[in-house]
Amino acid sequence: MSPPPLASLNRNLHTAKNKKDDEFYTQLTDIANELQYYEPHFEGGTVYCNCDDPTVSNFVQYFAQNFHRLKLKRLIGSCYKSKERDMFSRHDSKTAIWYEYNGEKKGNAPSFEGGLCQAKPLQGDGDFRSAECLDLLRQADFVVTNPPFSEFREYVKQLINHGKKFLIIGNKNAISYKEIFPLIKDNCLWIGHTPIGRDLLFDVPSEHTKELIRTKKEGSAYKVIDGVIKRRSQSIWFTNMDHKKRHENLMLIEKYTPEKYPHYDNYDAIEVGEVVNIPKDWDGIMGVPITFLGKFNPDQFEILGLSQKVGMGLESNKKYDEYLEMRPDGIMTGSSGQKTNGNAVLQGKPKRASQNFFVKDGDVVHSLYGRIFIRNKEL
Ligand SMILES: C[S@@+](CC[C@H](N)C(=O)[O-])C[C@H]1O[C@@H](n2cnc3c(N)ncnc32)[C@H](O)[C@@H]1O
Repeated sequence: MSPPPLASLNRNLHTAKNKKDDEFYTQLTDIANELQYYEPHFEGGTVYCNCDDPTVSNFVQYFAQNFHRLKLKRLIGSCYKSKERDMFSRHDSKTAIWYEYNGEKKGNAPSFEGGLCQAKPLQGDGDFRSAECLDLLRQADFVVTNPPFSEFREYVKQLINHGKKFLIIGNKNAISYKEIFPLIKDNCLWIGHTPIGRDLLFDVPSEHTKELIRTKKEGSAYKVIDGVIKRRSQSIWFTNMDHKKRHENLMLIEKYTPEKYPHYDNYDAIEVGEVVNIPKDWDGIMGVPITFLGKFNPDQFEILGLSQKVGMGLESNKKYDEYLEMRPDGIMTGSSGQKTNGNAVLQGKPKRASQNFFVKDGDVVHSLYGRIFIRNKEL
């Protein structure tokens, strides 16, 4: 038998990596910390956790334990029968299942293993897109879970198309996905209450922890808490459920001066390097770091676009194809300025001494991290 072609091996490895990155289990404390800001929403509603094995999911545990306090009508869940089960998954059910709890038992949380919540087999594999799971989705008012990162775009699209209220965890990078950012810009989706910069730590399958210890650095990739390895991940909460923080005005203190807030070389906007420094008297467009989204109040600001990507609202009005990239020591990297097209770019050398910049006929420019373009609506 001839060996499989390299492309197919690579594809399999890539799929396995994505699947492994899907196996992050959310901690009960992180769920409770975020959920406390949405409690009144849930009264009389049905919650569906559709990526959750009831024997391990803390989302299921949270809603089962708080069922009566939140005055829920029903809790439904379903669990995916991972095709990579032997490699990474902790799922041990032979088939995908679904389950429901209608608050039969007050007091102690219901136990799935003890049979209080009836687990019933699904015909298919429990994929959130399957007809069976869509049928359960239609019965729900709220979806709350941590879905597979590798399917995040499709997952959100389905929730939006079905008009569901949701509170879910996703990778921070999802903010700039072309399928996600427009939803943020149009106020159909926003960031949850937990600050963007706060670490969320996850339990991971034991195969993954062994690999983490072998290949990654403690502190940056994982932490050891009470002797247990917890995976660090750049994860944040995404929701379309209102919370108080979203209506708090950001206090603005600084005043605009052209020296403090340079105009971009390629966008009709000024650079505001830190969210706390947004000038209170600038009524034009400003570029701010992505962390702004954690402070965004739609009554105070309007979101207009995102740098780095094409077609995300505001367009860059200059290309840098004819520039050359230079290292701080003056040596050319061999790359052209094409790689910075779309970034927010400032004239001159960067403040960070270790950062490369771009040159053309004596003109020097440098690029910035991702920027969100906003305007103050109150001016
Ligand atoms: C990031 S983990 C989170 C698990 C759980 N929701 C939690 O927060 O602890 C995502 C889970 O979704 C499952 N999953 C992967 N693909 C899926 C799919 N197509 N449909 C439903 N679930 C899926 C994975 O097996 C994995 O257990």
